[in-house]
Amino acid sequence: MPNPVIIATGYHVPETVVPNDELKKYYETSDEWIRERSGIHERRYAVNGEGPADLAKPAVEQALAKAQLTPQDIDLILFATLSPEAYFPGSGCFLQKLIDFGNTPALDIRMQCSGFIYGLSVAEVYIRSGKYKRILLIGGEVQSTGLDRTNEGRTVGVLFGDGAGCVIIEAQETERGIRSTHLYTDGRNAEQLWLEEPTSRRFPRTNPDGKAQYPQMNGREVFKHAVTNMSSTIVEAAKEQGWSLEEVDLIIPHQANYRISAAIAENLNFPKEKVYSNIHKYGNTTAATIPICMAEAEAEGKLKQGDKVIATAFGSGFTWASAAIIW
Ligand code: ACO
Repeated sequence: MPNPVIIATGYHVPETVVPNDELKKYYETSDEWIRERSGIHERRYAVNGEGPADLAKPAVEQALAKAQLTPQDIDLILFATLSPEAYFPGSGCFLQKLIDFGNTPALDIRMQCSGFIYGLSVAEVYIRSGKYKRILLIGGEVQSTGLDRTNEGRTVGVLFGDGAGCVIIEAQETERGIRSTHLYTDGRNAEQLWLEEPTSRRFPRTNPDGKAQYPQMNGREVFKHAVTNMSSTIVEAAKEQGWSLEEVDLIIPHQANYRISAAIAENLNFPKEKVYSNIHKYGNTTAATIPICMAEAEAEGKLKQGDKVIATAFGSGFTWASAAIIW
């Protein structure tokens, strides 16, 4: 059975850097509060008119160039996002409009912060089954246009940024690649972290006077569940592979909050320097955090062929997931 191997990575973040201090024009906040509670120093914001597919385009071109492939070599596009250009069709279709893939199928994945790992799992199964040979998996988000810019929205508003990352996954006869994925959902907590509108439950779907078009979060519940569930799913992935945690070269956690990543390292007694972090530069870019981390870690020499890697995520749903990868 062929293994799904990540053969190339790419990422793109918008040029506009928004340091913490700049958010003071919307919120009663401070650089110190944001750094202390989240580890974020700055984030990037897309320009008006840009959507996730626009941010994904340069990332995809980068990955294709690295792999020396053309868009026609891709058999399936998976696009993970919670901030699509339109209610429908999905961001994968908009990417199809920007890059000539022919009629390659494009499938959107709406699993929020866990979307990229759910995407790895879809790719894993398609490749192992022999249906597709090369899959492009993207995580891309434009969060900046969807945040409450009144003081009421400050807790959520300071955390998020825009960006896109991608990987190309290829069927290869090798021991390397995505070894296992582990997925969980707990819908009982669906409303602990959500964006309600537009909602098909009511007419009209939006209420312009209300707050339901902005993300709402119970931060403390999210924090608690994120630490517990990402920790347990890392242990599960290592166990499934017969790896001790000492053998793991790098953990790539979803960049939700630096304190969450630090708490996971502490929980597992795992060295913090082997837990990848770039949240200080980009904030939380939701489905894009893990592929951006993969691309940067690779460029920095922190992710080398043969390394044992565990990626993990937690997010709205609640959903959580992990993937064990031999890079
Ligand atoms: N600037 C300044 N003060 C603020 C801000 C802000 N942006 N936001 C809240 N505060 C104030 C609150 O009003 C409160 O003031 P009070 O004590 O006078 O009432 C005080 O700071 C503490 O507020 P809490 O909400 O209790 O702060 P907490 O320590 O819980 O930190 C945070 C909030 C950072 C959101 C934390 O709960 C957290 O990290 N949760 C995890 C959520 C997360 O990471 N989400 C990312 C998206 S979800 C995902 O990707 C998994």
